[in-house]
Amino acid sequence: MLVRLATRTGLLALLLSLSTGCTSLEKVDLGRVLTSGRDGWQHPEKVIEALELAPGDRVAEIGAGDGYWLPWLSDAVGPDGVVYAVEVDDELVAALNERVADEELGNVVVVRGQFADPELPDGEIDLAMTCLTYHHIDDRARYFERLRVDLSERGRVAHLDDRPGTGAPFRWFQSKDHWSEPEAIVGEMREAGYRRVASFDLLPAQSFQVFAPVQGDVAASDPVEGH
Ligand SMILES: C[S@@+](CC[C@H](N)C(=O)[O-])C[C@H]1O[C@@H](n2cnc3c(N)ncnc32)[C@H](O)[C@@H]1O
Repeated sequence: MLVRLATRTGLLALLLSLSTGCTSLEKVDLGRVLTSGRDGWQHPEKVIEALELAPGDRVAEIGAGDGYWLPWLSDAVGPDGVVYAVEVDDELVAALNERVADEELGNVVVVRGQFADPELPDGEIDLAMTCLTYHHIDDRARYFERLRVDLSERGRVAHLDDRPGTGAPFRWFQSKDHWSEPEAIVGEMREAGYRRVASFDLLPAQSFQVFAPVQGDVAASDPVEGH
């Protein structure tokens, strides 16, 4: 009986990990996962539309996990575009390479990033996005300050991350560190030399904000669009 229960619990944990792109059960919102598939709460089609990607764009997902976003991003930028799938976990890098081959995502390049540097080509990236990864990155202001050299002239950075106090029941399965205050993201991105250019209220449990580098005097710039 105990063995059966443990096996089932282990299997459930594995399935939950895979379905959210997280690598441990504590990062999973069981309520959301059990009540619908990820597309049901992540609304990828709405997110992709809001990101305003165009054919030929070069995008990077920092912390690509199991590659949930890759088919969506690959389709949005088309055969002339490039999607860089950045990961720091060697097992996930191998799994991403397998997924890219299996699903014939010809415009996706898997990159083994470093914790402080995504190892992207300088001046190339039109959009860098993170989803459920922002809170994993150490010293975020320095990380995104350094990322500025990787952005193209029109480069932007989008962050989707869980918000505190929202979402379905079972939130207590998450540790307190697995989300970000949206205002804290704005503050850290400002410190990194960006201003917010868009914020979308599309997702029930996640903030979704887009930033562009500030040219010139960061201190004198408005941190948020319309303010
Ligand atoms: C919760 S998962 C999110 C996966 C994916 N973005 C998704 O939405 O399904 C966070 C991922 O970020 C990766 N990660 C953590 N720190 C990172 C860093 N500094 N650079 C790149 N990836 C990182 C982890 O290895 C993990 O796969």
